[in-house]
Amino acid sequence: MATGLQASGVQVSGCGVQSQSTTTTTTTTTTTVGQASCSVARSAFFGRGKWVARRLRIAAHKEELVLVQKKIQQAGVQCSVAASAIQEPVAAAGAQPVVAAPSSGMTPEERECFGVFCVTYDLKETDDDQRSKTWKKMVRVLVSGAAGMIANHLLFKLASGEVFGHDQPIALNLLGSEKSRDALEGVGMELEDCLFPLLREVNIGIDPIEVFRDVDWALLIGAKPRDPGMERADLLDLNGKIFAEQGKALNAVASPDVKVLVVGNPCNTNALIALKNAPRIPSKNFHALTRLDENRAKCQLALKAGVFYDNVSNVTIWGNHSTTQVPDFLNARINGKPATDVITDHKWLEEEFTPRVQTRGGALIQKWGRSSAASTAVSIADAIKSLVTPTPEGDWFSSGVFTTGNPYGIANELIFSMPCRSKGDGDYEIVPDLQIDSYLYERIKKSENELLAEKKCMAHLIGDDNGYCDLPEDTTLPGEQ
Ligand code: LMR
Repeated sequence: MATGLQASGVQVSGCGVQSQSTTTTTTTTTTTVGQASCSVARSAFFGRGKWVARRLRIAAHKEELVLVQKKIQQAGVQCSVAASAIQEPVAAAGAQPVVAAPSSGMTPEERECFGVFCVTYDLKETDDDQRSKTWKKMVRVLVSGAAGMIANHLLFKLASGEVFGHDQPIALNLLGSEKSRDALEGVGMELEDCLFPLLREVNIGIDPIEVFRDVDWALLIGAKPRDPGMERADLLDLNGKIFAEQGKALNAVASPDVKVLVVGNPCNTNALIALKNAPRIPSKNFHALTRLDENRAKCQLALKAGVFYDNVSNVTIWGNHSTTQVPDFLNARINGKPATDVITDHKWLEEEFTPRVQTRGGALIQKWGRSSAASTAVSIADAIKSLVTPTPEGDWFSSGVFTTGNPYGIANELIFSMPCRSKGDGDYEIVPDLQIDSYLYERIKKSENELLAEKKCMAHLIGDDNGYCDLPEDTTLPGEQ
């Protein structure tokens, strides 16, 4: 675990760290942990005067202090430490190196750590150390579109331990855009103010090559919405280019077993584009979010059956996260019984339930004036939890996954939503042998054809020849009716 300012008997005062940049102003943040406090002045302008005191760690013995002072001088930083507070080396046994690159191997220049997360603390002999002894190895999570509404709901769930577990320390790498620099800092400030014990690092930036380094999970939320009058093919192309670049960045610098969840629409094809641009990463690790659609389907079935949500299980979303998606009531179960035995009104299932789920995103936009954000964030959390905890016996969850070798005869080399189950190790298998009647088959084929057309249209971004755009007339995202 990253450690730093030792709380046991060390007094650090007036540690003013000034930006190297002469063109930016500075602000001061004061951090207090136990008996130790440190004021860190930082550039008020994100991205220009880079943090000088990244990963600064102050330990409690003289040799280390000398090294600290030397490093600090080199960095143009002023810092004073009360000599009386400095313990002999023996008293500081186990103290950590003073100034060190993070364990991930990223150099300070490559990572834009944020505020209090630039100063880390030696937790030895503190209550926090006792608690952290049972913690797992830190997981590094990238969130793109980090200053957006979905991320604003999601980040605090991630940082609280609700998603990866209350024994799972987390580092958040936040990717924003040129326009969202200030907002990203705002997100970082709110994360600071939450005092989440499990949140060990926050790094912010706008360059995927920097921000994707060593990430174990990549939650790709940021995407452009369709502007008025924009052709769907143009939207695909615009977002496709973003996801091609992000796929390349993942390929270059992410953890080799990074799990990638694409949320930005059109998420299935964006996930395929990222996958095709990241040959170093197993194709199985790429997902497109259809858990939101599964949750919507469960809600509608529960409402119709007059039961609580958690009595509805085995709900599959087949296909594309678009209005051709197929919410499967045939294999769904309510209180352990086939849903079709509990809801006998087949006309409702076919003619009301199905389109209601397919178009729920659009209905919500009409009410809210914007896309779903909170429920999307919850469904991202659910999708991750489904991969890091074992699937309950007999149940499954929906995820858009790579089709090559699938047991349902769906065309290879697509990202297609199917029933999956996991042992909780981050991996999954596609659940075979679900019943497919002619109603389901016809609709599944329609969604498959739509994805094949999207793929053809994006051939130039996935290394295929002979691409052309001939998208089905009614191809729309859930929010685009
Ligand atoms: C949703 O399903 O709510 C979103 O995908 C809607 C949209 O198209 O942005």
